[in-house]
Amino acid sequence: MDIPDELLDTIEGAFWPPDVDLFRTLLAATATHLPGDLAELGVFYGKSAVLLGASLGDGEVLTVVDLFEAGAPDEQNQGENDASYAGLTRAAFEANYRRVHSALPVVVQGLSESIVDHARHGTHRFVHVDASHLHAHVVADIDAARLLLAPDGILVLDDFREEHTPGVAAAAWQAVLTSGLRPFAVSPHKMYATWGDGSRWQAAVEEWATGTTWVLERQVVNGDSLVRIGSPVSGTLPPDHPARRFVPPVVWPLVRRMGERAGLRTGGTRDQR
Ligand SMILES: C[S@@+](CC[C@H](N)C(=O)[O-])C[C@H]1O[C@@H](n2cnc3c(N)ncnc32)[C@H](O)[C@@H]1O
Repeated sequence: MDIPDELLDTIEGAFWPPDVDLFRTLLAATATHLPGDLAELGVFYGKSAVLLGASLGDGEVLTVVDLFEAGAPDEQNQGENDASYAGLTRAAFEANYRRVHSALPVVVQGLSESIVDHARHGTHRFVHVDASHLHAHVVADIDAARLLLAPDGILVLDDFREEHTPGVAAAAWQAVLTSGLRPFAVSPHKMYATWGDGSRWQAAVEEWATGTTWVLERQVVNGDSLVRIGSPVSGTLPPDHPARRFVPPVVWPLVRRMGERAGLRTGGTRDQR
């Protein structure tokens, strides 16, 4: 099942090009070569979850976890949620999901790392970690993802190098240096990695990127081959709006639309086209 961009655009969320196409590419590649379960930690209104749901094959399970309207386990996490996700409800997520799919995934309302109590271990082909962006939570979520993943399964880490998410960056590279996690691709916002062999997934990313306007650059990081999918060469898109870096990514689409209604130029940023 294909979910067109126009349908995805009707769902509020922080999930943009090139990651939408990278998800499509890697979900298709894993469906063919490593059938298995899917999971998402942090769904918000379901923008990336509906794409995961579209990839489900026979016998495969999508499990998602989010606090939704429940309180966070600590003050910092609560502050993060109040600032960026106020008003979110489980009912709103489920209504969005049902607009696209006839059946809900397994929905867990709770702390992201608790997904290990609800999803099968060692069977997942693709796990998207996109819940709290605070260091201790991301460390726990990466450990949880490792338990869920099949040997060559893919871990996607959101916001691993944003200005406002140093905790994700630390947790991501800590996992690379201490647990054998191997990033095979990075986009402007997400790291794509595996604890197994990522060469097949990397080839799929390279094949997709060839012929697009996204920059494709090969590097070696910690002894492993990594492809960087970079923003299109300057001139093909308008520059970021100067206010963009002060606004949490998930809130930017709303701010952009308000600005446009007020007649201000907020630009076609590389995050939100
Ligand atoms: C960046 S949003 C997820 C974006 C989503 N993947 C999308 O496609 O739009 C982060 C989500 O994580 C949830 N969250 C924050 N802290 C959490 C925690 N400790 N455990 C579970 N969910 C959490 C928030 O409620 C929010 O829905």
